[in-house]
Amino acid sequence: MNKIKVLIADDIEETRNVIKKILKLDKENIEVVGEADNGEEVFKIIPKVKPDVVLMDINMPVLNGLEATEKITTEYPSVMVIIMSVQAESEYLKKAMFHGAKEYIIKPFNYNTLIETITTTYEKCRERQVKLTGSAEKVKDAKTIAFFSSKGGVGKSVLAVNTAIVLSKESDKKVLLMDMDLQFGDISMLVNKYNEKTILDAVEDGQIDSYENIKPYLYKYNNNLDIFFAPQKPEAAEYITKETIEKIMKDVRKEYDVIVVDTGINFNDSTLYILDMAQKILMVSTMEIMALKNTKLGLKVMESVGYDKDKVKLVINRFNVKYGINKKEVEEAFKDGVFAFIPDEEKTVIVSVNKGIPLCHDDKYYKLKVGKALDEMCKSLIKAF
Ligand SMILES: Nc1ncnc2c1ncn2[C@@H]1O[C@H](COP(=O)(O)OP(=O)(O)O)[C@@H](O)[C@H]1O
Ligand SMILES: [Mg+2]
Repeated sequence: MNKIKVLIADDIEETRNVIKKILKLDKENIEVVGEADNGEEVFKIIPKVKPDVVLMDINMPVLNGLEATEKITTEYPSVMVIIMSVQAESEYLKKAMFHGAKEYIIKPFNYNTLIETITTTYEKCRERQVKLTGSAEKVKDAKTIAFFSSKGGVGKSVLAVNTAIVLSKESDKKVLLMDMDLQFGDISMLVNKYNEKTILDAVEDGQIDSYENIKPYLYKYNNNLDIFFAPQKPEAAEYITKETIEKIMKDVRKEYDVIVVDTGINFNDSTLYILDMAQKILMVSTMEIMALKNTKLGLKVMESVGYDKDKVKLVINRFNVKYGINKKEVEEAFKDGVFAFIPDEEKTVIVSVNKGIPLCHDDKYYKLKVGKALDEMCKSLIKAF
């Protein structure tokens, strides 16, 4: 256990010496880290010696014990003040407690009373502080949903954007959408924002060490959704290594409930890192036979690296019976079934893509089949966590 660090404040040197002597008897648990002969001095020493407890005489010159107590408890709330006074000052004692002192002790005191007062006050207050800070600093640990596909053009980015929007609107969660298709990321196009800062800017400016630094590089789509855009030039991808992404994720994940990632189609180090850390991988495929074949291969790779069916979910996008295969047949082709079918609605989707207004931006989307399916998929996702 760490020793309790005590600062003694009393204007009479002899009293300080007596207290020091007493406290030395319990040097296993208590350490005197400093002394002061007036309230102002105490205030100067605190930042230097960082005491846990200040033993404070109530009557001191310059700044008296009461005023000093008030100042300390406001500016250094974790420092516990124990007031020392003689019996005659009992009115003052009440005041001292009112000014933020945690305990008081009447002079003259013996070894037992002093040690016991210090240790019990310390323990009681520490416990409370731990409880308080424990809840105040409760950090989030975002769930990560990665959209992946073994073939381009299947609708991965369209689904990622809309999923992020639906989650941010419906579940009142703080969501980050990360465009990790570092070469051909087009989330910015899908939300019609071309001049916003990107991951590359944050990396080039050396601002990825903390969330505070990263924040100015995020685009605020709505109150609950931020977007981290991919670089605008494909060659930039090589500057953004797995280590870079790891660094970004470390802090960012504490700030959001959900991180939705749109990944590139290569199984490179960065993608693998994202897939590894993700709680859910949504493997997107269309009904086209080539896409289905590649998806099957991709799912096999995932299985071989140990991702189970709880983590990897198949999403069939652009579902349309006109393409000659029905839902049942698709389900049967994949042993773990299909997590969601998103209908093919060419006109609506293309108009939305061309305008740069995501389908789910507007509440009208509930009326569309594609919107309903997305909404249902998000509900299943929330349930699946
Ligand atoms: N459900 C859908 N219905 C109709 N067209 C879609 C649908 N989803 C995506 N698309 C079309 O597919 C194109 C490619 O989508 P995109 O998300 O860019 O694919 P990826 O990110 O997998 O390369 C889009 O421009 C859109 O026109
Ligand atoms: Mg894409």
